[in-house]
Amino acid sequence: MLANTADTYGSVSRTLHWLMALLIIGMLACGFLMGEFGRDEPLRPLLYNLHKSTGTLLLLLIALRVLWTLLNPKRLPLGGKNIASQVARLVHLGLYLLMIGLPLSGYLLVASGTSVKPFEFFGLFPLPKIAPNDWLHEAAEGVHGNLPWLAMALIALHIAGGLKRHFIQRDGTLARMWSS
Ligand code: HEM
Ligand code: HEM
Repeated sequence: MLANTADTYGSVSRTLHWLMALLIIGMLACGFLMGEFGRDEPLRPLLYNLHKSTGTLLLLLIALRVLWTLLNPKRLPLGGKNIASQVARLVHLGLYLLMIGLPLSGYLLVASGTSVKPFEFFGLFPLPKIAPNDWLHEAAEGVHGNLPWLAMALIALHIAGGLKRHFIQRDGTLARMWSS
C-alpha cells in the first residue's frame, strides 16, 4: 500500500524514511570529510558538488515528505502516551526541523556567497543564486556549522530508541517502519 493508515506506514513513507536516513548520514560524513582536502586536490570540488547537489535533493525530498505526512492519516503512537513515546515524538519533531534546517542553511550559505558562479545540480544545470549578502551568508554558515552536531545527537538517540523497542520491548515499532 502506498498510503499510511492509523497504525501502519505505507511504502512512500517507508521509502522516504530509509532513503533520506541513508543520504543524511552520508551527507554528515561528506560534510566533515570534504573540508579536510586541500584547495588543489582534485577530489575536493567533486565532493563539494556532490554535497551541495545531494543536499539540495534532500531539500526537495523533505518538502515532499512533509506534504505526504500532512496528507496522510495521523498514526497512533505505539506504546500509548507513556514518557518514552512522548520523548520519541519530540525527537521526531526535532528530526523534521533538522531535515529542513540543515539543507536550507547549506543552500542559503552557498546562494548568498560572493562567488559569481552558481553551482550546478549534479553537473546538469545551475541552481539559482541570490544577491551576495554578508549577514545572511555568515548567519547561515554559523547555523550550518552547528546543526550537524545536534543532528548527530538526535539521530543517535533516535536509533537507540528504535533498537531498544526492537530488541528489548519487542513492540513491532521497527518492523512497521521496515515492512507493511
Ligand atoms: C541534510 C543536508 C546537509 C547536511 C547533513 C550537511 C552537513 C554538513 C556538514 C557536517 C558540514 C561540515 C561542517 C563543519 O565542518 O563544521 C557541511 C559543510 C558545508 N555544507 Fe552542508 N549539509 C547539508 C546540506 C547542504 C546543502 C544543501 C548545501 C549547499 C547547497 C551545503 C553546503 C555546504 C558547504 C558549502 C559547507 C562548507 C562550509 C564551510 O566550509 O564553511 N550543505 N555540511
Ligand atoms: C538520519 C537518520 C534518520 C532520520 C532523520 C529519521 C527520522 C525519522 C522520523 C522523522 C520518524 C517519524 C516518522 C516519520 O514521519 O517518517 C522516524 C521514525 C522511525 N525511525 Fe527513523 N530516522 C533516521 C534513521 C533511523 C534509523 C537508522 C533507524 C533504525 C533503528 C530508525 C528507526 C525508526 C523507526 C523504527 C521509526 C518508527 C517510529 C514509530 O513508528 O513510532 N530511523 N524516523
